[in-house]
Order: sequence, then C-alpha cells, then structure tokens
Amino acid sequence: MLAKDPGDHVVVVTGAGNGLGRAHAHAFAAAGAAVVVNDLGGGRDGSGGSTGPAQHVVDEITAAGGRAVANTDDISTWHGAKAVIDQAVDTFGGLDVLVNNAGILRDRMLTSMSEAEWDSVIAVHLKGTFCPTRHAAEYWRNRAKGGAANDARVINTTSPSGLFGNPGQTNYGAAKAGIGGFTVIAAMELARYGVTVNAVAPTALTRLTDDLPAVHKLAETVDLSPEGVSPLVVWLAGPSASNVTGRVFAAIGGTVAVVEGWAHGPQAHTDGRWTQQQLDEVLPALLAKAAPNADMTGQRPPQ
Ligand SMILES: NC(=O)c1ccc[n+]([C@@H]2O[C@H](COP(=O)([O-])OP(=O)(O)OC[C@H]3O[C@@H](n4cnc5c(N)ncnc54)[C@H](O)[C@@H]3O)[C@@H](O)[C@H]2O)c1
Repeated sequence: MLAKDPGDHVVVVTGAGNGLGRAHAHAFAAAGAAVVVNDLGGGRDGSGGSTGPAQHVVDEITAAGGRAVANTDDISTWHGAKAVIDQAVDTFGGLDVLVNNAGILRDRMLTSMSEAEWDSVIAVHLKGTFCPTRHAAEYWRNRAKGGAANDARVINTTSPSGLFGNPGQTNYGAAKAGIGGFTVIAAMELARYGVTVNAVAPTALTRLTDDLPAVHKLAETVDLSPEGVSPLVVWLAGPSASNVTGRVFAAIGGTVAVVEGWAHGPQAHTDGRWTQQQLDEVLPALLAKAAPNADMTGQRPPQ
C-alpha cells in the first residue's frame, strides 16, 4: 500500500533498467503508482549508454496495464538528476517517492586503484544520490512553503560493503557508507517538509553480484531474486512507514533487519589530556570489551 491513493502516487526509480531497480519499478507500478523508470543503459562498470533497458522496463509495465515513462539521464550529474525530477512532475503532476538505486562497480585493490575508478564509483553512487535528492528536496520544500502538505519519501540504496566492509571495494564501500551518513542527515533536514529518508542494503542476484561466489552459494538455499527486496522498499513508501526516518535496513534472502548505526561503545574519560602511557592502559581494556565489527552478512563474530 502506498502513502496516498495509488492513482495519485508518483515514483522515480533511478537505475531501474536492470536488477533491483527494475524489480522496484514493477512493484510500485503493480501497486498503482506512476513510475519514472530512469536508466542510463550503460555497462556494469558504467561505460556506454542506451535507451534500451529503461524503455524495455516501461514496455513491460505498460503491457501489464501500469503507468510508466522512461528517462535515460545520468543521475550523477546535476542537470541529469534535475531532468529526472522535472520529468516526474511534468508527466505525472508531482513526485511522492524517490528511490535512489542506480549503481556501478569498478572493483580494484587499493594499491592498484586508479583515480578514474575511484571518481566514477563515487560519482554514480554518492553524487548520484545527492543530486536527485537535492532537486526533489527543493520541489518538496517549495510545495511546503506554498502551504501544501507533503507525505514524501526518499529511499536510498547502501550496501553491506559500505556498512561492514568488502576487500577490493574501497571506492564502492566508501560511497555506500557515505550514503548511510547522507541518509541520516537528510532525514533530519527534510522532516520539516514532510519527507522521510531511509536506506536499504540489499543482497540479490544481479549483474553486480555475478562474480561473487558467496552470493551464488547463498542463492542455492535462499531466494536472492531482486524481487525479494522490493516489498521492503514499497513498505518504506507506504503509510505504515510515515514516521520511520533516518534508518538503514538490510534485506537478504527473506530476512529483513534494522541495521544499527555507529554508537560509542566502551568508554573512558580524563579531566586532563590523555598521556600515551594512560592510553596504553585504558584502550586495550576498552577494545577487549567492545563488540567486534559485523561481517558481510551483518552478523558480529562471537567474542
Ligand atoms: N545486487 C546486490 O546484491 C547489491 C548489494 C548491495 C547494494 N546493491 C546496490 O543496489 C543498486 C542496484 O544494483 P543492481 O545489483 O540491481 O545492479 P544492476 O547493474 O543490475 O542495476 C544498476 C542500474 O543502474 C544503472 N545506472 C548506472 N549508472 C547510472 C547513472 N549514472 N544514471 C542512471 N542509471 C545508472 C545501470 O545502467 C543499471 O541498469 C546499486 O546501487 C547497487 O550498488 C546491490
């Protein structure tokens, strides 16, 4: 169920030509929403581009009786992201839900990573979350200032890599961790305009996980289809989630989890300034008491 009458509901899903975004677009359309299906149509590493994937998903949705329109702008650019938001408003008369989902991978160990591999991944994920959210936020702020009541949603896409760490992905993990921080702060800022901001960390079989044996192994026993993640995203867009904001959720093979954020663990205090000798005494004891970081499945190893 959506936040208001589904017939009035307008959803933008970025990177909706494949994988998870395609599944989200279908789920929203099946719930009656009008969907802007954005996709640059590039390769797994972000190279190239084509109208094919976005239009194909639109054709699937319209063939099933849904409402959708294609957009092929690059959401990592200021103007491309604005064009997506404008298209939603111009075509369907407003915007209720923005799902920031577009993504690429350029994995490389840190010692060999190029500047281009770093910049492109940070751009698509982090700037590609900021830019659409920024333009959507301006639209919702202007509505609020004009006296309209918003009941709007931003749903970002982070990753176990960013939350827990995965070797070979300093670029991707840093961007995805950044999206976690962005989500928390944007939630604080946009609450006054009637907008919630949350993030989802999915695990699914898509072209981005093609080369991850651990994901294929897990898929032998649990359903890791992208469609398994979409119900959580649609729920976050719905009335039951109107007071849920600034949260990160994980969805993996039928399990949904609230991901708990950074917090101070064991601590010590001095009224003066710590000496190296004091820290030698205090910090090992604090570390011994502190919970270990979670692994890629989100579980803390036993202590
Ligand atoms: N598959 C997983 O297990 C997994 C795990 C954690 C996070 N994620 C995240 O989920 C999201 C979706 O990934 P997926 O696995 O479905 O991959 P995917 O490659 O199937 O889909 C991503 C889509 O984003 C599009 N895209 C890339 N750059 C774009 C740009 N600049 N503008 C517009 N569209 C662009 C691509 O063309 C592609 O169709 C990504 O943000 C990814 O990082 C996926």
